[in-house]
Amino acid sequence: MQLLALNGPNLNLLGSREPGLYGTSSLEAIRDDLSERAMALGVELAWFQSNHEGALVDRIQAARGQSSGILINAAAYTHTSIALRDALLAVAIPYVELHLSNTHAREPFRHHSFLADRAVGVICGFGPTSYRLALEGLVDHLRSRS
Ligand code: DQA
Repeated sequence: MQLLALNGPNLNLLGSREPGLYGTSSLEAIRDDLSERAMALGVELAWFQSNHEGALVDRIQAARGQSSGILINAAAYTHTSIALRDALLAVAIPYVELHLSNTHAREPFRHHSFLADRAVGVICGFGPTSYRLALEGLVDHLRSRS
């Protein structure tokens, strides 16, 4: 089983970006930890980060026929992007939305997600552990269906 982890804008700055909110782990450290977890669960993990909405749409489209599930931290695009929602629905790949911070405990404009209502589940607020929880949830979900 191959899964895809997608990361949106500004997540490449994790480690130095607002550490009080997002912690001190770099995105590379999160990726390495998640790859290890994926290996332990017996799944392959592809990884992608972009600051550009269209590049994320292209990567979602490229996952068609390749990935059985998607983990997505769309960052600010979560709250703005109908294009990402449409791409996820177009490829019809089950996805889990995740965030490092608890978006519901932050500014009102972060309370709405264009992705959440069609996600398998949503995880937020656990820092880098959100990635692990999302991975476990998605793998359990996919295995229970097959
Ligand atoms: C985020 C939350 C978003 O609201 C924000 O725009 C981000 C990061 C998170 O992981 O907590 O860039 O997705």
